[in-house]
Amino acid sequence: MNGNAVEIDHLTRKFGTFTAVDNLSLSVGRGEIFGFLGANGAGKTTAIRMLCGLLLPTSGTGTVGGFDILRQSERIKRTIGYMSQKFSLYPDLTGRENLSFYGHTYSLDKSTLKARIEELAELLSLSEFIDRISGRLPLGWRQRLALAVAVIHKPTIVFLDEPTAGVDPVFRRTFWKLLYDMAETGTTVFVTTHYMDEAEYCGRISIMHMGKLVEIGAPRELVLKHRASDLEDMFINLIRPQGVTDAAN
Ligand SMILES: Nc1ncnc2c1ncn2[C@@H]1O[C@H](COP(=O)(O)OP(=O)(O)OP(=O)(O)O)[C@@H](O)[C@H]1O
Ligand SMILES: [Mg+2]
Repeated sequence: MNGNAVEIDHLTRKFGTFTAVDNLSLSVGRGEIFGFLGANGAGKTTAIRMLCGLLLPTSGTGTVGGFDILRQSERIKRTIGYMSQKFSLYPDLTGRENLSFYGHTYSLDKSTLKARIEELAELLSLSEFIDRISGRLPLGWRQRLALAVAVIHKPTIVFLDEPTAGVDPVFRRTFWKLLYDMAETGTTVFVTTHYMDEAEYCGRISIMHMGKLVEIGAPRELVLKHRASDLEDMFINLIRPQGVTDAAN
């Protein structure tokens, strides 16, 4: 794969007259951990769905893994892993059954699939939970299993839409350790989060507000640029409606 993992230029998506994603342009290099931030309703999930070849843009262009998001969505789907914001596992199936199911959708043969499941169980420390019914696992384990499902076919780019929402801090920390490990092996990690401690772990972040990109850069550089005390302070100042001040003021 040549060039950047993600390249988008003036990507726009309208729903009727409402513009959910408004002229979004950015690029993400291979092996980067890129944090895709923004308030609720900013347009993050809509943008990710376009990048994953699941939703067509109204206008604009882009490539993911070198494939055109308008014309090569099937190639993109085979290149990427996607962990959607909503729980995407079959709750009545065990972890192993979920992994097998998704592995088959990528046409992995029986022995490759078996080896890959063992490998992921080891890598993600899932062995103890893999044969339990997914829907009954604690959220942290379910999310870890969903990550395993998202990477069953060894994608080079993963899109993770709020993978740690509602997950406790210990699980979140270990989850991020896994993302680092993935990035170290060259996988590009494109991740959304509302947790500012997680945003700090990213090489670069972008911040969306009402469909538009309002900032992009390394977390520490952005804090300095905006003379903010920390990332949360900067984030709130960027997305706060005009005229609203801190409760403490
Ligand atoms: N299929 C749709 N039809 C109409 N409006 C939609 C549709 N999908 C999303 N929207 C609207 O687009 C806007 C952006 O939604 P989106 O889910 O992309 O935001 P988000 O940044 O992912 O938010 P959150 O942080 O809450 O997940 C919202 O106002 C949402 O209601
Ligand atoms: Mg979302």
